[in-house]
Amino acid sequence: MSDDRYLTFALGKGRLAKQTMELFEEIGITCEEMKDKDSRKLIFANEELKLRFFLAKGPDVPTYVEYGAADIGVVGRDTILEENRNVYEVLDLGYGKCRMCVCGPESAKELLQHHERIRVASKYPGIAKDYFYNKKHQTVDIIKLNGSVELGPLVELSDVIVDIVETGSTLRENGLGVLEEICPLSARMIVNPVSMQMENARIKKLVADIRAKLEIK
Ligand code: PRP
Repeated sequence: MSDDRYLTFALGKGRLAKQTMELFEEIGITCEEMKDKDSRKLIFANEELKLRFFLAKGPDVPTYVEYGAADIGVVGRDTILEENRNVYEVLDLGYGKCRMCVCGPESAKELLQHHERIRVASKYPGIAKDYFYNKKHQTVDIIKLNGSVELGPLVELSDVIVDIVETGSTLRENGLGVLEEICPLSARMIVNPVSMQMENARIKKLVADIRAKLEIK
């Protein structure tokens, strides 16, 4: 396809978007409009490079990319696994590193070992279900929460939680710990399958440029 078409990026709001734009800047992709903190604009463009960027809530990024509203997305692997959308994961960007874990009080270890029917609270019910049902073959009750998931075992809503652990300080400060590790996480670049074909050369170059930059870091 011709270079006249804009390539559109959906970036997960917050630190992830900031780190992504810093990385893009290092390979010559800039977006001055995006740096204006007072701006209420939702879509930003680099007219010269024919690129558009918008910020979205993390879980919405794979949705925009699957439907082709964005050609490319940048979001955490946790969100990609949970949303399970039809997108290609093309690159591990290396930042936003953390782990998805089963966490809880020391006493819950035994419940996990004996495959008891336990209650699992999580912001990631899809990941929790896949882990317990498909990997561990353990029947559990999954309770969806929207944040501060560590409260689950503290107020006896659940026996354990499935959550992101970065430094581990939230767990430590609340008398909880990592009981099992599910998988490592980091920021990933995802691509719409049709865009991957139609804009193959531009996307391949972008991925190669970023990969080269990450390798020399
Ligand atoms: C995340 C995660 C843990 C915490 C882990 O929560 O859900 O609660 O960070 O980080 P740590 O290991 O460095 O302590 P977030 O701050 O995103 O808010 P939330 O609990 O409302 O989801």
